[in-house]
Amino acid sequence: MDTMFSPKKPLSHAALKPYSEKVTTAALAVAQIHNGDHVFLGTGCAAPCTLLRELETMPGPPADLELIHFLLVKAFATDAHGQSLTRFHHRTFFVGADLRMAIGEGRVEYVPISIARVPEMIARGRIRVDVAMIQVSLPDAFGYVSLGVSVDIIPAALAAARLVIAEVNPHMPRTMGDTTLHISRIHHLVPVNTAVTELNREPAQEDNVQRIARYIARIIDDGSTLQVGLGYVPHEALQYLTDRKDLGLHCDVITDAILPLLEQGCITGACKTTHPFKIVTSMALGSQRLYDLINLNPLFDFQPMDAVCDPVTIAAQHKMVSIAQAYSIDLTGQVCVDQFDGKFYSGMGAQGEFLHGASRSAGGKPIICMTSTSADGKTSRIRASLAAGEVSTIARTDVHYVVTEHGIAYLFGKSIRERATALIELAHPQFRPELFAQAQAMGYLPATQTLQNMRAYPVEDELTVTLKDGSQVMLRPALSSDAQGVRNLFHHLSKADVYTRFFHHVRGLSDAEVQRLCNVNYETEVAFVAIDGPREDANIVGQACYFVNPSDNLADTAYMVHPDWQGHGLGSALQKCIAQHAARHGVRGFVADVLPGNTRMLRLAQKSPHAVRAERTGDCVHVTQLF
Ligand SMILES: CC(C)(COP(=O)(O)OP(=O)(O)OC[C@H]1O[C@@H](n2cnc3c(N)ncnc32)[C@H](O)[C@@H]1OP(=O)(O)O)[C@@H](O)C(=O)NCCC(=O)NCCS
Repeated sequence: MDTMFSPKKPLSHAALKPYSEKVTTAALAVAQIHNGDHVFLGTGCAAPCTLLRELETMPGPPADLELIHFLLVKAFATDAHGQSLTRFHHRTFFVGADLRMAIGEGRVEYVPISIARVPEMIARGRIRVDVAMIQVSLPDAFGYVSLGVSVDIIPAALAAARLVIAEVNPHMPRTMGDTTLHISRIHHLVPVNTAVTELNREPAQEDNVQRIARYIARIIDDGSTLQVGLGYVPHEALQYLTDRKDLGLHCDVITDAILPLLEQGCITGACKTTHPFKIVTSMALGSQRLYDLINLNPLFDFQPMDAVCDPVTIAAQHKMVSIAQAYSIDLTGQVCVDQFDGKFYSGMGAQGEFLHGASRSAGGKPIICMTSTSADGKTSRIRASLAAGEVSTIARTDVHYVVTEHGIAYLFGKSIRERATALIELAHPQFRPELFAQAQAMGYLPATQTLQNMRAYPVEDELTVTLKDGSQVMLRPALSSDAQGVRNLFHHLSKADVYTRFFHHVRGLSDAEVQRLCNVNYETEVAFVAIDGPREDANIVGQACYFVNPSDNLADTAYMVHPDWQGHGLGSALQKCIAQHAARHGVRGFVADVLPGNTRMLRLAQKSPHAVRAERTGDCVHVTQLF
């Protein structure tokens, strides 16, 4: 090992005494870097900031250096606009806000690749690493340092590097898992004594973000294993999970957003298939509070990125939920994640692996979320086609759940028409007519389809009811994308039921007829459906609607219940649900014409808690209930 270093060191730590021949200063360490070297920088909040600063400011730096990195937090000196003042050429797998200008100027190469595949590229020499600069904890009694808050892709870089330089920081937590490195593998130790970089997020208070967060939380069950991408919306969702039980975490990165769930005992990992009772992660980006918690804590199992993000491991998890934030989506379901308006933002991370893994997991849920418009409200993020300067990072074949502040859609296995219909209903009402017209012009929607619902989907109107036999169904406002489900329900009715519902024999429902039962304006027309099964496998087993007559402010009602579900109280639950809805919206009462032999319907009407009057009029019984 090098003997050129002065024995007089400006700073050292007692634990480094046995390794004093390796201890040096940042200036002397970076002087070992050669012209043309490819220098890997440790990741996230474990970036080697002292070494990087030295490299950036050393007089006569090596020529043709390339700095290679994933996500770096507050690592570079920046100008007044927050743009990095780096003087080097970079190769990055993630575009932080500070590098955006440098990318535009051609000084930074962005590599769009899953971070889970980078270790393999480094091992094969396709991504060259000559020098690795990292930040580690103090060594233990056996001479092992910990990679601390970031394991990430660092093991691959260390294995490839000719020269390893480590900042040794007593503040770096010793994390548990596959995070140790024997000091013999480090060539130069640079003692530092700085607080570990913190990433503190301001909570996103906006109403639409909070709505999305609540909607996401609605579809996460007890016992799910979660991966939450770096966007601010998925993180907000975690705060609404404090009533869930036995959640698990298997993520590329953890942040402070997990702390309330841990404090309230919601995360036990008891239902995890692999690494039960452990929080598996590759990085922590958070506050000192999080770092104090992970220090020497066996609950946390830090693993290299390629191990954490192995799709087979992810898919093996019980109820794996992956939540990713996107910039835009087109009406066929193509999702843009890392490029928006022509500029590169963030990166792929390992989101593809997590979404894939979640889609293959038993009971898993891959979720894409986004606000329906850009922050200024001027642009819809739901677009007829992705715009120039946007790419499809997640293929439409891989998209399952999409959530905006206007509701939740499930697209997997759905046709283009069904996707376009569902996504238009997730768009901001202001943009729906234009999207609808574009979708019809592109042939995604037939000319016969109309756009009725111009309201935000009222998720608060969803309710789960328990029927007489103890089974549960969800009653929710109908969507135009429910057309096929409603048609299937119709075809399950007996001939007699069809007759009592429609007053004549009907063989099938035309597009216009079926749309009338689910594609409604929620002002004078309201429809609810009863759903059996999870959203991704939803089966419509009941439908109820009311149509308000403006002249007397009374609404005509009609119901259909699947024969297998009749007599269990579903009709009564639907009646109660739409009556409460109507009363809340100022409707005076319900009327219905019922065939005299339809005892079930007459009985149903009589069960109303309101004043009910039944009069025989011609061939029908005219039933009126006033609220
Ligand atoms: C009418 C209809 C919506 C009722 O739905 P449902 O889920 O069976 O209703 P419920 O289970 O809540 O039952 C309502 C009442 O009907 C009676 N009922 C239900 N099934 C019955 C049956 N097979 N025989 C006799 N009475 C029956 C019950 O007395 C019940 O009252 P109760 O709870 O006080 O005992 C359903 O039968 C249906 O879809 N029929 C075909 C379409 C139709 O006629 N629609 C109405 C025209 S607008």
